Amino acid sequence: MMELKIQLIPTGEIILSPGKNGENHCHNCKVVASDGVRAMMESALTARDRVGVQDFVLLENYTSEAAFIENLRKRFKENLIYTYIGSVLVSVNPYKDLEIYTKNHMERYRGVNFYEVSPHIYAVADNSYRSMRTEGKDQCILISGESGAGKTEASKKILQYYAVTCPASEQVQTVKDRLLQSNPVLEAFGNAKTLRNDNSSRFGKYMDIQFDFKGAPVGGHIINYLLEKSRVVHQNHGERNFHIFYQLIEGGEEDLLRHLGLERNPQQYQYLIKGNCPKVSSINDRSDWKVVRKALTVIGFSENEVEELLNIIASVLHLGNVQYGGEDSNACITSDIQIKYLARPRVTLVLSVFACLHLSLTFLSLCVFHHQLMSPLNLEQASSARDALAKAVYGRTFTWLVNKINASLTYTSDSSKNYSVIGLLDIYGFEVFQHNSFEQFCINYCNEKLQQLFIELTLKSEQDEYEAEGITWEPVQYFNNKIICDLVEEKFKGIISILDEECLRPGDASDLTFLEKLEDTVGGHAHFVTHKLADAKTRKVMGRDEFRLLHYAGEVNYNVNGFLDKNNDLLFRNLKEVMCMSENKILTQCFNREELSDKKRPDTAATQFKASLAKLMEILMSKEPSYVRCIKPNDSKQSGRFDEVLIRHQVKYLGLMENLRVRRAGFAYRRRYEVFLQRYKSLCPGTWPNWDGKLSDGVSTLVKHLGYKPEEYKMGRSKIFIRFPKTLFATEDALETRKHSLATKLQAGWKGYSQKCKYQKLRNSAIAVQAWWRGILARRRAQRRRQAANTIRRFIKGFIYRHKERCPENEYFLDYVRYSFLMNLCKNLPKNVLDKSWPTPPAALTEASEHLRKMCMQNMVWSYCKKISPEWKHQMEQKMIASEIFKDKKDNYPQSVPKLFVSTRLDGENINPKVVQHVLIFLRFCPQYAVPVTKYDRRGYKPRPRQLLLTANSAVIAEEGKLKQRIDYGALKGISVSSLSDGVFVLHVPSEDNKQKGDVVLQSDHVIETLTKIAICADKINTININQGSIKFTMGQGKEGIIDFTPGSELLVAKAKNGHLSVTAPRLNSR
Ligand SMILES: Nc1ncnc2c1ncn2[C@@H]1O[C@H](COP(=O)(O)OP(=O)(O)O)[C@@H](O)[C@H]1O
Ligand SMILES: [Mg+2]
Repeated sequence: MMELKIQLIPTGEIILSPGKNGENHCHNCKVVASDGVRAMMESALTARDRVGVQDFVLLENYTSEAAFIENLRKRFKENLIYTYIGSVLVSVNPYKDLEIYTKNHMERYRGVNFYEVSPHIYAVADNSYRSMRTEGKDQCILISGESGAGKTEASKKILQYYAVTCPASEQVQTVKDRLLQSNPVLEAFGNAKTLRNDNSSRFGKYMDIQFDFKGAPVGGHIINYLLEKSRVVHQNHGERNFHIFYQLIEGGEEDLLRHLGLERNPQQYQYLIKGNCPKVSSINDRSDWKVVRKALTVIGFSENEVEELLNIIASVLHLGNVQYGGEDSNACITSDIQIKYLARPRVTLVLSVFACLHLSLTFLSLCVFHHQLMSPLNLEQASSARDALAKAVYGRTFTWLVNKINASLTYTSDSSKNYSVIGLLDIYGFEVFQHNSFEQFCINYCNEKLQQLFIELTLKSEQDEYEAEGITWEPVQYFNNKIICDLVEEKFKGIISILDEECLRPGDASDLTFLEKLEDTVGGHAHFVTHKLADAKTRKVMGRDEFRLLHYAGEVNYNVNGFLDKNNDLLFRNLKEVMCMSENKILTQCFNREELSDKKRPDTAATQFKASLAKLMEILMSKEPSYVRCIKPNDSKQSGRFDEVLIRHQVKYLGLMENLRVRRAGFAYRRRYEVFLQRYKSLCPGTWPNWDGKLSDGVSTLVKHLGYKPEEYKMGRSKIFIRFPKTLFATEDALETRKHSLATKLQAGWKGYSQKCKYQKLRNSAIAVQAWWRGILARRRAQRRRQAANTIRRFIKGFIYRHKERCPENEYFLDYVRYSFLMNLCKNLPKNVLDKSWPTPPAALTEASEHLRKMCMQNMVWSYCKKISPEWKHQMEQKMIASEIFKDKKDNYPQSVPKLFVSTRLDGENINPKVVQHVLIFLRFCPQYAVPVTKYDRRGYKPRPRQLLLTANSAVIAEEGKLKQRIDYGALKGISVSSLSDGVFVLHVPSEDNKQKGDVVLQSDHVIETLTKIAICADKINTININQGSIKFTMGQGKEGIIDFTPGSELLVAKAKNGHLSVTAPRLNSR
């Protein structure tokens, strides 16, 4: 475990981990800007949001406004519009659509610890919701900031968040829809384009959202504050009347407009042209009209009610066009058409008596000593009477509208009080204009009150927390604006009291007398100045009819003109009476007769406002507050522009620096023990992975291990308080480092586990496949074994029964024997005709086998014969003859068998042409065969080379060109040859033939061939004698010669001593 030491260096903090030799290595160094804002803060509480600090409490230089604004700027540039001061959310209007309000974002913030995600309006909404659910305490979210800072948007975002994320049933869905749809309606009637904001709320709004025990939104209630009615009759340059007028004129259907007597041109209406700004680029009146119409239906307005509501809106426009003329002191109406229209039954205001209205707008009815008198009005009075009527009608209709919405949002369960509440306060922010009047006075007074509440609650809650945790509270210096609140609202002495007094006082009370009275009464107050009381410098920037209040948020000059009138908010009685006569149901609800009979003067506007604020404070005090402080980045509604002067002003009057100071007065950071331990327990072996003992002991162990010095932290009852942000940052850094090693471990563990699972799965699968396959194989083997056993059994049985008649027992065996014989036969058929082999057939097939054998032989012979060529046939015939003659009779026959017989041994070139010629001429036959031979003389047995030629009819012996002897075949008596291997043979001729000189003894090297040819040519096959031992032959004249044949080593032919021719023939192995 790494031990941490913290060393503060001027630019920031660096975490040092002790090296091997005790030296320190800088690791994970952070760059910190000199003004104390971290240029790069990797150690923000959440790793998500790394620009600047996401909680100002963690700002090192927390007293520096520059550092504060720099942090805002940095985050704003990166579109991070939200930053915390503890639990207060600071929001800077981006003036552009950031994609941070999607359903995914809502899901991300749902049920998550406030500090674990980056700052967001949803985090505030979710935190309040969870506190309400878990602690059962009503909540309120106070949204403040100047006009155009994004309050209304923020409240809408919160409402949407609840609508999406809270559980809902079908019935709840209607309530959700109505809650959401109440916004466009209220905005249409209560919002207007001002110089500051194209959609500025001109009324204050507090909305309760009611949740049942399941946490589902089941109802709601809206309280509205001080609608800026003066806008109905007058708008400053560049501003507009309330949206609804333009929406009706631009979006209303033709029929509707005709029915209401309106033209589709806002320029036609006096009440719409004062600001000279009928169109605004960011507003689409026509589509807004559709949204409003739909919203009215969703909220539950009937068609009649909508018609009557629109009648009223149209009437206000008509009223504005009522013109006066005549004498200055006695005004009369010059535009009767408008009045007629206004008085038409069941149309617009539906005043039943045209004259009444006419009269009421030009005369004042006075009640003097119980007598009703009519006093004519001058032009100015008549105009203001008209305007007062318009304002009253519009203002009261607005209140009716809010009540109507409230009725539709009412929670109608039996256990009606059994719900929790989250309140949303979206009220006009602090306003300073060039000319500030009664409205600004009220608005700024309201903001003073809220600031007061804020101070009380934040300071108080901070103090309460210290007390609850048993930690000593050190008082914080801050500006308490109670003094200003008192200046405005104190009984008898406050500005409102003085104003009321002036309004009620008989005599010539005027705005200026009111100013004088103020000077007299509160002139000495530190926060009050008038032209008369001011120093020379201030006088230059103040009018004589102005008084200045030094608000907590800045100085504002109020012009007293109109204060009395606006405060009186009077409507002439006769006008009220006329209103009471209206047939319009909404108007009859707005103006009732009881008001006429009530003699008591109604409360002035300021007093009513003061009372409603007091009530609001009460409501807010009873709830647990959360704050959203909205800041406007520039006056030109531009995205990305950060006007530092404007922002510094807002930071100041929103009291953000004070807020921060209070939060940081003692300890910058505090967390409940379990949260702290849960987050950082991994940094200490003692607390990791789990701490079993008391939470506070665990935290003690942890911080000791981390090396916190005693002055850096304090242990409360349930929370640890850390004094400096840097201590926390160091811990965060350590956690960041630790996270990596933990993550690696987790990863390794997980990877190991997942790989093991994977392997196990693979293994199991392989085993399953193996088992399956082995099963198949085993089954196959068993099957084969069974089959084999059956076969063997059948064989044995068949074998036993083999000699019996064919029966089931032996048929298989017999068939098999046959089959195997035939199969064997097919493989072992004789290859050629000489091959006499033939498998032995089983008894049953003996006959068939014999047939087959014959057929096979025939087939072989047939196919052999087919293949024989004529030459070969001739050769074979000769060989056959040779075989017949010599086979087993002559020793050298076997040698001759493989040697082919040639057609002739001598061709034309080797035979003398003369011989050929002779043969052809005398014998008329061409020699068929010629062979060189050796002739032995009959006497001395001298060998003489000769050629033997065979023709068709005779054998011829030639020597060179001479034809030596011719033996006609007819004369050939026989041929003798020995049985030995020699080539000597004798041609026997008849001795009596004189032409012949006796038998011829010849020797041929190709004796078998030669003799076969002679035998064929002479057709003397049967006349060849093969002799053993010796051959006798005739030599002519009756003399006889003998040739003796003896076997020997080599051929030797010679005359023996006995006078015989001795032939030694080599013995041949073959015999
Ligand atoms: N969170 C936001 N995101 C985008 N635009 C915003 C946001 N908040 C405010 N705006 C813009 O600023 C305008 C004024 O905001 P609005 O809530 O009406 O101000 P306020 O109620 O404080 O007078 C809006 O019409 C809208 O255009
Ligand atoms: Mg607003």
